[in-house]
This record gives sequence, C-alpha cells and structure tokens, in this order.
Amino acid sequence: MRMYDIIDKKKLGEKLTNEEIAFFVKGYTDGSIPDYQASALLMAIAINGMDVRETTELTLLMAKSGEMLDLSVIKGVHVDKHSSGGVGDKTTLIIGPMVASLGIPVAKMSGRGLGHTGGTIDKLESIPGFNTSLSKETFFNNVNTLGLAVAGQTANLAPADKKLYALRDVTATVSSIPLIAASIMSKKLAAGADVIVLDVKTGSGAFMKTVDSAKELARRMVDIGNNAGRKTFAVITDMNDPLGIAVGNSLEVIEAINALKGKGDEKLMEVVYKLASYMVYGAGKASSPEEAREKLEETITSGKALETFAKFVKAQGGDDRYVYDTSFFELGKIKEDLLSDIDGYVSDIRADEVGIASLILGGGREKKDDVIDPGVGIIINKKTSDRVLKGEPLATLYANDASKLAEAKKRLRGAFTIGAEKVGAYKMIYDTVE
Ligand code: URA
Repeated sequence: MRMYDIIDKKKLGEKLTNEEIAFFVKGYTDGSIPDYQASALLMAIAINGMDVRETTELTLLMAKSGEMLDLSVIKGVHVDKHSSGGVGDKTTLIIGPMVASLGIPVAKMSGRGLGHTGGTIDKLESIPGFNTSLSKETFFNNVNTLGLAVAGQTANLAPADKKLYALRDVTATVSSIPLIAASIMSKKLAAGADVIVLDVKTGSGAFMKTVDSAKELARRMVDIGNNAGRKTFAVITDMNDPLGIAVGNSLEVIEAINALKGKGDEKLMEVVYKLASYMVYGAGKASSPEEAREKLEETITSGKALETFAKFVKAQGGDDRYVYDTSFFELGKIKEDLLSDIDGYVSDIRADEVGIASLILGGGREKKDDVIDPGVGIIINKKTSDRVLKGEPLATLYANDASKLAEAKKRLRGAFTIGAEKVGAYKMIYDTVE
C-alpha cells in the first residue's frame, strides 16, 4: 500500500477502506509517514469529508494507537466532558470542582490550544507550579482522594491524535466534522470514562459555524460513543460572542475562580450548569438534569467547589494562594482599552477574531513549538446587544510587547460591529443530543 495512492483517492472524493485508514494511522504514529503526506491527506479529508463508517474506523484506530485506560481503580461511575473548542471557554475549570464536590470522580485528560481556541492545559499552567504531566499512579490517586485530576494527553493516550492535532493546528485542517469527531472521541474512548458529556460549540468562534453543522458533529460523536458502550450526551452551545468576559490564560483562570466564588458571568454559568447537570444526571446522582442543577448550585453557595479547586491546584503542585487571592496572577504589563468610536449597540462580535487577537498577544501558538505568555489576553467589556457610548471601552487588552499589542488591537477593533439598532443577545443553549 502507498500513502500517495491514499491521498490521491481522498483528493478525488472516494471512500477509504478500513485497511487504508489503518495504514495511515499506524504509519503516521510510528513516523514512517512524514508530516507532508499526512498534511495532504488531512486537507483532502477536510475538503471531501468521510462517511460514518470511515469516521468510526478512524476514531477507533486512533483510540487504540496507544493505551486504553482502565479506570476500574477509581471508585464510582466515571464522567468526562469535552468541548469542541471555543474562545473564552473555561467551563472545565468550573465544572470539574463542582461535579467532584458531589462525590462524582472526574478524571480528565485535557488539551492545549488549537487554532484560535484556548486549551485547559495551557490555562492551568498559568498557575505557578501547576503540573499537568502526572504519572498514572498520581492521577488515579488524586481522583480517588480529591475526586478530581486534570492531566495533559500523555504520550501514550491516543498518540495518533496527539500528532495529528498538532499538525492540524498549523495546516488549517481543524474545522472538519470527521477530523474533530475522531480527535475528540478517540481521546474520550481511550481515557476510559463511562459517561461522556460533549459541549459542541457553534458560531463565529467555533469550528462549526452553523447550528446544523454542530448538530451533525454532535450526532456523529454521540453515535460513536454509544456504539462503543459509553453513555454519551452532547449539548450544542453558543460560541458567537466569546464565553464569559475573559480570553487569555491567566485571565480565564481568574474568571473561573470568580465563578467558583459565586460571581460568574450569567451566560457562562448557563453553559456550566447545563453541561454539569448532564454529567451528574448521567452518573446517576440525580433523577433529572433539573434536580442535578439544584445540587450543583449548592456546591457554589456552600463554597465546596472553590475548596475542591484549591485542593486540586495544590495536589498538582500549583500555588493555591492564587485561588484565594487572584491578585497574585501576573498579568501583561501593558494594559490598554479599545474604545468605541461611536454611540450605538454592539451588533456582532467575531469570537474567532478575538481568539486570534489573544493569540497575537502571545496567548496561543502560531507554530507547533511556540511558548505561551500566560499573562496576556483580553477582557470583553461589551457583548452583543449592549449599549455603548463613544469613548467607552469595548475591551481591555493585556500585553507584554508593544508591537504585538498594536497588531492585536487592530484585529480586535475589526471583531466588533457597532450598529444604530439594538439587536437581541444570543441564546446560549441550542439543543441537546442524547
Ligand atoms: N478538540 C479536540 O480535542 N479535537 C479537535 O479536533 C477539536 C477540538
């Protein structure tokens, strides 16, 4: 079999056989297929797609490219959540401790930033000392004692995805239903959870720009999960405006900590409660998502979720003083507002452009090996539908480099549209797929 022929076949829009998919996954994982051939095939898949059989096969092969975790040493029903990627999405940092506070073990493998979107691992690493490369023993032990551990995808967990993810990030091949479905579900299947809750985002800041394409991705992932014997739910949530107010690593951790202190942005919390409710309901700890929500609200008002978060930070080597006093976080030294030029209403914010502006500041990666600056980012002061007066700040940028700041500010200005008429705010939840 030749990689050249496989690329050519997909370029012509034909279906690949299971053997051809296996040849690619194995060859790319063991290094016998080079990046340039893998990139060409990824681009052909991004353009011509894959059907359900091809996607399922790709997912299973990617999951089995490494170790399939056995979580049986962790007591209880194991729940996991995953987002298809968004801007300002810090939900894992809030949901993890809330759900763990209800006695449901959360053993989470998270990712790094991808394209214009941020990643939980990069965010957590903005807490000094925080270690996401845990040994299996520490990971399991922390889940058993605290109820929560978050680790980066280890070299052994779906290594095919690890390599493909990094390659897609820099070859404009992220936004493809089969590639996203296989990437997310291969990790979720390998990570061993019994219950999987998927947050499929739609809108300008998501990889899926329309509700219909998000539904298609959700359906495909739920089918793959259920066929593999995992109870899988997907919630389709909005990603037109950035989620919450902060974009950038330290800024998002601060926002998550404030949410755990009961001061969360209303729309952010709507998404948090919806996803967390399905995790609690799926784990059998509530008879309905509504009952689950009541229990979850209690974890915030009682301070239990915040306490769990602080213990989790400490257990993974992080400085827990940052949790109780967020002024410890070192933010970008240059702080500058983006002001509105006119009176009006915010009629649109391009969340993807906000994500790119944050990336330009140094909050994400342009190339595979770039190092992230955790202190840079953006606070959004006005959201879609908000009234704004000339000279009022639409957003505040935190930077450490004046030329990056100038470029990011220009990009951010283009992300905002101000109109004369008030438009409605976006609804946050579009649908649920069970
Ligand atoms: N999240 C993932 O894990 N993979 C993708 O491809 C997109 C979002």
